Parts: sequence; C-alpha cells; structure tokens
Amino acid sequence: MSEAADLLFTNVHLATMVDGYGELRDAALAVKDGRIAWLGPRGDAPAALAEHDCGGAWMTPGLVDCHTHIVHAGNRSNEWEARLNGASYEDIARQGGGIMSTVRATREADVEALLAQSLPRVARLLSEGVTTLEIKSGYGLELDAEARMLRAARLVGERLPVRVATTFLGAHALPPEFAGRADDYVDELCARMLPQLAQEGLVDAVDAFCERIGFSNAQTARVFEAARALGLPVKLHAEQLSDQQGAELVARHGGLSADHLEYLSQAGIDAMARAGTVAVLLPGAYYFLRETVQPPIAALREAGVAMAVATDCNPGTSPMTSLLLAMNMACTLWRLTPREALAGATSHAARALGLHADIGTLEVGKRADLALWDIARPADLAYAMGSNPCRGVVNGGVLRQAHIAV
Ligand code: NIG
Ligand code: FE
Repeated sequence: MSEAADLLFTNVHLATMVDGYGELRDAALAVKDGRIAWLGPRGDAPAALAEHDCGGAWMTPGLVDCHTHIVHAGNRSNEWEARLNGASYEDIARQGGGIMSTVRATREADVEALLAQSLPRVARLLSEGVTTLEIKSGYGLELDAEARMLRAARLVGERLPVRVATTFLGAHALPPEFAGRADDYVDELCARMLPQLAQEGLVDAVDAFCERIGFSNAQTARVFEAARALGLPVKLHAEQLSDQQGAELVARHGGLSADHLEYLSQAGIDAMARAGTVAVLLPGAYYFLRETVQPPIAALREAGVAMAVATDCNPGTSPMTSLLLAMNMACTLWRLTPREALAGATSHAARALGLHADIGTLEVGKRADLALWDIARPADLAYAMGSNPCRGVVNGGVLRQAHIAV
C-alpha cells in the first residue's frame, strides 16, 4: 500500500469466506476509504493512522440478510394461535386472513408509522452483525401503499447503519379490489405500479409469489418480462407450498435467486445450476409453518447451486429477527454444515442480491462491512442458540457497537 491506511484491525482471526471459511489466524486487516485495503499476517501489517486491537476476536464479512419482509404493520399472533387450534396457513389465507390481514394494517400506516414498527426489528438484526438487508414490499398491493413501504425501506438505510436493497413484491397476493381478476391486477402492476416505483428509484429487484394462493406461472412470467424490460433483476418465492415450476421460470429470466424451495424438483435444480440462480433457504418459515417436506439440500449441493440462508422476517410465516438462529435451523433441520450456513449468510447471500462484487467476503477492494465475534471458531456462529457473540460491527470502515438503541 502506498499511503497509510485509515484504520488497522489487529490481533484478530479472519474468516474471509473465500474458499470455505478462508481462516487466517493472528491476522490484521487494514481499511482505507471505507474499503478493505490489505489483510494478512499480523506481523506484516502496514502503517495506519489508527489501530483497533480486536483482543483475539474473530472477524467475518458483515452478515447479509437477503430475504425479509421486515417493513410491515401489525402482527399475526392471532392466526398463529388459530393454526395451533387446527386451521391451516392456506385456509386462513383463503378466508381473507394471512397476507391480507397484514395488507389491511399496512395500508392504514403512513411511512413514519411503518418505520416506528420496523426499526426495532431491524435493530435486533443489526445487533447480530448484519450490515446488508433486503426489504420487500408486498403488503400494500396498490401503488401508494407499495410506495410507502419502499420509501420506509429506503429510510431504514438512512436512519440505521445498514445497507438496504429494496425489492418490489407487488405480486405477493391478489388485493380484494381485483377479486376474480388476477390478470387485470397483473396488467396494473406491469403497466403502472412497477414503472412508477422504478422511476422513483425505489426498486432494486422484483419478486413474486408463484403459488396456488399467489400468482400462476404465466402471470409471474408477465411480471418478470415487465421487470426485465426496465432492466431490473428478478427473484421468486418458488415452490414453497407446491411445485409450480417457479425455479425454472426465474432461472429462464436469469434470476438472482429462487427462495423457499421445499417442493423444488430436479428439473428446477438443473435450471438454477445452469443459470447461476442462488437457492435462498428460509428455515424460519419451514419451522413456523411446521412444514415436513424439506428443500432438496443434498441435490442442490450436488448440482453446485449456491445456497444462501435468510430470516424471511415476516408476521405470518417467520416472525424472526435473528439471522444466527436461521443459520442454526438450516444446520439442525436440514443438515447444512456450519460452513455452508455462514457462506449462506455472507458470500452467497451477497450473490443473491447481485452485490457479490462489493460485499460478502473479506477481500482487498471490497467494502469494509465487517463483524467482530467473541467465539472460539467460526462454527460457533451457527452452533449456539439464542446467544449473541457479536462484539462490534464495521459499516464502510466505521466501527460501531453491536447493540443499537432505537
Ligand atoms: O415468505 N410466501 C409468501 N410470503 C411470505 C409470507 C408472507 C405472510 O404470510 O405474510 C413468506 O413466507
Ligand atoms: Fe418471503
């Protein structure tokens, strides 16, 4: 390095997440202009204007939660109770509850009310080392309410130390105004809602719920064509409750990710492998819905499909604000290895957002989004349940405390 670094983290063990854990013990990492400028053995560290002794902590890339519905109003503990008394998730949805009950609450909330409810949830995620967060719309289902959700999502990234990637999920459920006219809603979404929201700069990617209680494969294809025409990347809630060949569809559109995937077929896996579409695994929803069909982890691994792990934080199927717990569940419920789970919450999650050139691993040139942990080895991150070993977080080279008061 020609000039002195801004900040040197020293007395630290690195899990670079390049090639497995990419462990580098007794190391140091230098930051300049918000980016990683150097990393290597502690004894070879370059000069820096300031130094932070990490006290033998581990450092990983900042965690990336690549699938959330964290901006929403209200909660659905009443439906959870109803499910425990015998109702099914699909029954509740068909009776006007489910996603629609959150739509009613969200439509009534202005941007500040949405933020007031959402920021504490986000702060809980950030206290566990999350530095990048995807936030979906999809509880507005009309232009203004979807816009409010996406504006609130952008504001999350201004009020808290986190990078936010927004996703337009207008095709999440059919709004009551369009009952029996799903194709008309898709017309409205493609011709009016998406172009306007994109023009406002509110949309980084486009998602849909391709399912019996969501949108058909053909309707989803129309949403994807509209997105691609605007140059926006796509992703999909695919094969969560049944096989709708959604994975093949999103792969055909060069999609960033197919998410959930409990009912994924081999044809879907092959299509994802060919397209480089990431499998986003959401064990919180599987757990909370008491699903019994597991995503085909071994076949995904065999096909070389990158697997990410996310919280799916939402009020209906995954009221979870711990990415570390999602990692533990992916290992315990589905036999991911702890190394796969950590890659799933760092490098592969970055890929699922199309941000892997910038974040997700510790490499020179990448943004200095980092997490510091009081652990003995990297597997501890997925191992412990309900404990938070995060001792500090770095956002673009700026060190902060893990805990955030909102
Ligand atoms: O990821 N599957 C559809 N969307 C959400 C659930 C949303 C809800 O029930 O509010 C999910 O599981
Ligand atoms: Fe989801």
